[in-house]
Amino acid sequence: MADEERGDRAYLQPPYRIPPRDRDEILAGLNLDLMWEYAAMIQYIQHASMLTGPEYVAVIEEELQHAQDEHEHSVILTDLIQYLGGIPTVQVAERATSLENATMIAQDLQAEYEAIGRYLTRIQQLEAVGLYDSAQKIRNIVVVEQNHAIDLEKALGIRRAGQP
Ligand SMILES: [Fe+2]
Ligand SMILES: [Fe+2]
Repeated sequence: MADEERGDRAYLQPPYRIPPRDRDEILAGLNLDLMWEYAAMIQYIQHASMLTGPEYVAVIEEELQHAQDEHEHSVILTDLIQYLGGIPTVQVAERATSLENATMIAQDLQAEYEAIGRYLTRIQQLEAVGLYDSAQKIRNIVVVEQNHAIDLEKALGIRRAGQP
């Protein structure tokens, strides 16, 4: 009798094996990313409501779109964490706000820079254990975060990343 007829699924072997220590490290990192995605979504919603003045009308629209994007990223991360055997967190990272328009935008840009840095680390960790498909999902998120950063740099009058 074939293994599958006996209900023996030992033959079902995925093409990768993740050492438990690496898996734990990746899951901890992804849950950290998730906490910051939740926080970014909240921060953008709040900032979009607080930004004021005719020159900020376009920025308000962008920030509301960013909030939707961070929501999408949160869903991608929760699915990935669950798939890798973890439990997605419900903890929310720190939010920053201000009564000054430019300060709020700078807070949002700082958060984007930090998110990009975390995701670059996550891509390296995922690729190191052969999870190229998961790494690709994170790459797709980074492309969006980089565009968020560009939007905010332009809103602040920064012409090139890292230069005033
Ligand atoms: Fe995001
Ligand atoms: Fe973002």
